[in-house]
Amino acid sequence: MYHCFWRCVLVIVSLLFCSFFLHDKIQNVEYKLLLKEKDKAWQILVQQISSESKNHLETFKEMQQRAPLLQHAKYRFLAGAPPQQKKLLTVGISSMQPPGGSHLLDTLRSVFEATSEPECRSIVVLVHLSDPDPEWLNQTAANISRLFAPHIEARELLVIHGLLGGSPVPGNLSDANHTSPCEALYSRQKVDYALLMNFASSLSDYFLLMEDHVHCSPKFVSAIYWALSAWEELPWVILEFSSLNMSGKVFRSSDLSRLTSFFFLFLKGTPAHLLLSNFSFLLGQTVPISLAPNLFHSLGYNFTSRNTCYQEEREEEENLGKPHNPPASFYTNMMSTGSTVPEYAYLMNGSYFQTQYLIPGHKYTVVFRQPHMVTHIKFLTGIGKLGLFYLQQGQVELGYEPILEDNACARYALLGPLVKGKFYQKVHYEEDFVEAVRCVRLLVTAPHDSAVWIRNISIWIKSGKG
Ligand SMILES: *[C@@H]1O[C@H](CO)[C@@H](O)[C@H](O)[C@H]1NC(C)=O
Ligand SMILES: *[C@@H]1O[C@H](CO)[C@@H](O)[C@H](O)[C@H]1NC(C)=O
Ligand SMILES: *[C@@H]1O[C@H](CO)[C@@H](O)[C@H](O)[C@H]1NC(C)=O
Ligand SMILES: *[C@@H]1O[C@H](CO)[C@@H](O)[C@H](O)[C@H]1NC(C)=O
Ligand SMILES: *[C@@H]1O[C@H](CO)[C@@H](O)[C@H](O)[C@H]1NC(C)=O
Ligand SMILES: *[C@@H]1O[C@H](CO)[C@@H](O)[C@H](O)[C@H]1NC(C)=O
Ligand SMILES: *[C@@H]1O[C@H](CO)[C@@H](O)[C@H](O)[C@H]1NC(C)=O
Ligand SMILES: *[C@@H]1O[C@H](CO)[C@@H](O)[C@H](O)[C@H]1NC(C)=O
Ligand SMILES: *[C@@H]1O[C@H](CO)[C@@H](O)[C@H](O)[C@H]1NC(C)=O
Repeated sequence: MYHCFWRCVLVIVSLLFCSFFLHDKIQNVEYKLLLKEKDKAWQILVQQISSESKNHLETFKEMQQRAPLLQHAKYRFLAGAPPQQKKLLTVGISSMQPPGGSHLLDTLRSVFEATSEPECRSIVVLVHLSDPDPEWLNQTAANISRLFAPHIEARELLVIHGLLGGSPVPGNLSDANHTSPCEALYSRQKVDYALLMNFASSLSDYFLLMEDHVHCSPKFVSAIYWALSAWEELPWVILEFSSLNMSGKVFRSSDLSRLTSFFFLFLKGTPAHLLLSNFSFLLGQTVPISLAPNLFHSLGYNFTSRNTCYQEEREEEENLGKPHNPPASFYTNMMSTGSTVPEYAYLMNGSYFQTQYLIPGHKYTVVFRQPHMVTHIKFLTGIGKLGLFYLQQGQVELGYEPILEDNACARYALLGPLVKGKFYQKVHYEEDFVEAVRCVRLLVTAPHDSAVWIRNISIWIKSGKG
């Protein structure tokens, strides 16, 4: 009885909290079994509230009280000024003073070295220094001003220090009842991210989260720009451009206020990076969307000096080796031109499949002999940097059994769109979702009169399974 009562209370509380941010998203989300997913989402939220705080209603009330706290957050400009126009992307970094020394300056150097002048004009780099030590703030800001003066002057770099409603941490986190020192750190980290995101939400259309010990790949801004263009009409909450826990995640700025509320709702327990997947799940994105290759890598953190709350992040092995391309059959309703056959794109010997006069609904399907746990998929179309024979608009979908009479899978789920004629993504599986992939399909989504080359299809699978 007691349990059931709390369940009901919590579901109502969760609905109250979620309905205000779910309603506009959920409509355009096409994920299967939406209703069932929503049920699952409530359960997770419910479980979280019950596991994180004994006094659930209190938590919810606190959250309501804290939202205004964030509205009245005070920010001090330590260096630079906000840009005059809205930018495409805010690169947001939150940094505190670590005992072993900080990589913040190296990170900023890497950001600007990887960014061309035109790219710089479409971004603003926002650094939130969260440490309460005034001397460190002063020195760090002075160092940044000295080293990055041109970017500060061009309003491409802004250094701030934020306070929540006048106090360094909400309700004085240091005297909150944390069961472990890690909890205090997790809470503080969430407050820091909330302050950063709260300030960033009006600066740009999109927000890229980055930590203060990260190396960036050249032209990462362009890569993100093209991916955002391709994903514009599709449902997503977080696009991941790195295998790191926090760095390389891109959000819509319009989602940031919800995310900060979410951080405050689960201020205790659960580190921020785990909350992010719950957040995107609640908004309808059931699995991570990881674009490859990784654009951000860790510079290495002095974890020994920091604490035992975080472990060194193990970055994924990026050298996948040769694609596996398991035995498959090929089906397409695209017309073959130049005496090529569909499987040429799969053979990895430099051959390609050439086609023309494509319209939405044209598809190219790879049907594996047996289901596989696919880990990465790459589709290349066209040739060279000029976009010759590119397929401009298409998307890649994963198909599941059963196989129908026309030799295609019965069900498909969107994996992602081609980005500049190219597709390269990591494949994630929902937890407890053991269904392996049987089909991989390229679907044309816009008319395309000129010739298209489908050039190199690479599939990597988990060995030993499927
Ligand atoms: C890490 O921090 C500890 C303690 O501050 C220091 O002794 C050590 O030299 C640091 N290690 C590195 C690699 O910076
Ligand atoms: C910060 O530095 C400025 C000079 O750069 C100095 O006037 C000010 O007193 C310093 N503040 C603190 C808190 O150290
Ligand atoms: C600022 O730069 C000076 C000189 O390079 C260095 O000694 C100092 O440690 C730096 N301080 C911070 C907080 O980065
Ligand atoms: C927070 O609580 C601690 C311990 O009770 C106290 O020492 C500190 O002054 C408080 N800080 C603020 C800003 O109230
Ligand atoms: C901490 O917990 C104790 C016992 O559970 C309680 O009496 C006290 O009021 C709590 N303190 C705060 C600041 O929440
Ligand atoms: C939500 O978070 C909990 C732990 O915080 C985790 O166990 C669970 O898998 C998460 N759910 C999703 C869908 O991310
Ligand atoms: C990264 O995530 C893993 C798995 O959740 C965790 O064990 C590790 O401590 C995290 N590291 C950092 C630096 O957040
Ligand atoms: C196709 O792509 C794979 C993976 O990137 C690569 O190993 C292979 O050499 C490429 N093949 C051709 C013919 O370009
Ligand atoms: C690739 O292999 C296929 C089948 O063996 C063959 O027909 C084709 O000519 C080869 N292409 C090249 C460029 O060697």
